[in-house]
Amino acid sequence: MEILDIGPDSPQFMAVYDELLREAFLPDELMSAEEFREAAQHGTLWVTGAIHDGRPAGAAVAEWSQDSQVLLLSYIAVRPDLRGTGIGGQLMTAVHTTWQDRVHPLLTLAELEHPHAHQRHTQYGDPIKRLRFYARHNALALDLPYFQPAMKPGGRRVPGMILALLAAAPGFASAGVAPAGPVRAFMTEYLTQTEGRIGLDTDPEGAALFQAMSAADIRLLPLDARHLVLAGYQDGSRLKPHRRQAVLDEASNAAAQQAWTNGI
Ligand SMILES: CC(C)(COP(=O)(O)OP(=O)(O)OC[C@H]1O[C@@H](n2cnc3c(N)ncnc32)[C@H](O)[C@@H]1OP(=O)(O)O)[C@@H](O)C(=O)NCCC(=O)NCCS
Repeated sequence: MEILDIGPDSPQFMAVYDELLREAFLPDELMSAEEFREAAQHGTLWVTGAIHDGRPAGAAVAEWSQDSQVLLLSYIAVRPDLRGTGIGGQLMTAVHTTWQDRVHPLLTLAELEHPHAHQRHTQYGDPIKRLRFYARHNALALDLPYFQPAMKPGGRRVPGMILALLAAAPGFASAGVAPAGPVRAFMTEYLTQTEGRIGLDTDPEGAALFQAMSAADIRLLPLDARHLVLAGYQDGSRLKPHRRQAVLDEASNAAAQQAWTNGI
């Protein structure tokens, strides 16, 4: 297994998109193939891949926001038959080492499905296991009512998400808080680039998110599926089980619904 950068001119580059990302993420969660290639050519996106028998077995995709100095782990995926064999862990090591050396981000973030709102799926993965994976790699939740912005104007947002902190510049996040400034700048750029505008007066979810980022700091919480209650989600009104468009694994759904009813 080799862990290496896969540039936009590599024959493996679109294989990562077609064989890994398309397989692991719903269309609402995934940028288009054109955006993927263009951002890499522009230098704001890069791919670290795990190559096995000449094919990509796993990959992590970074998006760099120069303005906010925030790095986003946009996607990480491992081929379903190779999950649980340590490849994801090796990719996370790259996030914590080579990615940090490359741009020295103030904050490194990732978007995770909240297990109270998302169900397990054989193809797209298990939100509770995923939280455990990130917790093992020292990630923390930002205390925000997060949603993933729509990937294009008029597209659909993914509700019930967690914005997680994977890494911070030395001394930048401490005593259980992270500074809100870079997160606000990052979200402003992200929403403008994807949804085309920010109109908080007609957007209650956006307004709640920006309200929760309005103080100087954002509280950091352990990624614990049992107890993760985020600001703005506390009354549960915005954190309903999110029905995926794809065909769901019925047995897992029943278990997830039961867990939801029991408060996980
Ligand atoms: C999450 C993922 C990248 C981890 O990669 P991996 O190579 O399986 O991870 P490792 O072998 O290094 O570590 C194993 C851990 O990964 C997590 N994991 C394993 N299978 C998983 C699955 N189907 N879904 C989510 N997480 C999973 C578990 O925490 C597991 O630890 P456990 O055995 O104690 O439960 C991979 O499982 C995957 O591609 N999942 C589907 C896509 C996805 O969820 N991407 C992340 C979006 S934020």
